[in-house]
Amino acid sequence: MKTIFSGIQPSGSLTLGNYIGALSQFPALQEENQCYFCIVDEHAITVPQDRLKLKKQIRSLAALYLAAGIDPDKSVLFIQSEVPAHTQLGWMIQSISYIGELERMTQFKDKSDGKDGVSAALLTYPPLMAADILLYNTDIVPVGDDQKQHLELTRNVAERFNNRFNNIFTVPDIQITKVGARIMSLQEPTKKMSKSDTNLKASIFILDEPKQIEKKIKSAVTDSEGVVRYDKENKPGVSNLLTIYSVATNKTIAESEQEFADSGYGDFKQAVADAVVNMLAPLQKRYYEWLESDELDEVLDKGAERAQAAANKTLRKAKKAMGLGRGK
Ligand code: TYM
Repeated sequence: MKTIFSGIQPSGSLTLGNYIGALSQFPALQEENQCYFCIVDEHAITVPQDRLKLKKQIRSLAALYLAAGIDPDKSVLFIQSEVPAHTQLGWMIQSISYIGELERMTQFKDKSDGKDGVSAALLTYPPLMAADILLYNTDIVPVGDDQKQHLELTRNVAERFNNRFNNIFTVPDIQITKVGARIMSLQEPTKKMSKSDTNLKASIFILDEPKQIEKKIKSAVTDSEGVVRYDKENKPGVSNLLTIYSVATNKTIAESEQEFADSGYGDFKQAVADAVVNMLAPLQKRYYEWLESDELDEVLDKGAERAQAAANKTLRKAKKAMGLGRGK
């Protein structure tokens, strides 16, 4: 049995990218592993958030995890800010992280580029992410492709800590899905689909209604060749739609290409839209059931308690290793 940890920010509505690259991968893992799934609200405040919206999004994300198939009897589902060990270890990891390596993170560069009033926390976000992972002796971190660099940093700081102080941290491996690790924007298919894209036509949100999904997919950018084939470099739009279709229908890319060998883009897009709607419909139904149930709070209370027990053990060891407090 391995230990798995992953987190999602409650920083906006989840996209099809978050679902395909991360959330949909999680339920299968809990059968044979000890899984921790976290709502990383402290990561979300590295950029300004509206207080009431954030509160709502935290609950919404909890309901989505459960709707996607996270079983609270098997996995630990919890909110980051309800387990103080995360920021405590995060601070300790900051003390062994270098400003230079944090400034090199592409996510930091993208989010701070040309902006005034960039928060210090946006820069020190990766040490907090490392703490999230290291607190649970995590073996495997399932994430989308965009988190690769943060995972490499996590591995580096874990090794640095182990060498400098005491060998207490498990150095985690990253796990990235073969198909769908980077779902692209529907409007600019060379850019990843993102929660924070200001062009609402660029992203499909997990809770979009069927009509919205259909409309967005029908207006997705393609090319003028008119042939449905996978070629990421020259046909990024069509390749992205093929990826989405094959994940939604459980077919390979080759099977999907074959299926549309004689189709135009209109029919192809309609089939992609139908497949996405069918994939999301049961999830949406369960989501609204969870959101209205009293059980949601019970699940999160129990999750926080179980996470605290595991995290505090590691925190105690890390403090001792660094010489903090009285070593108790
Ligand atoms: P976040 O909230 O941006 O994204 C959540 C998960 O969704 C994946 N993802 C995608 N996958 C495929 N295609 C896309 N277009 C796409 N966009 C996002 C992300 O890779 C991620 O797996 N820093 C993390 C949250 C985090 C975390 C952690 C993750 C905090 N601590 C510890 C793992 C372990 C983030 O911002 O994810």
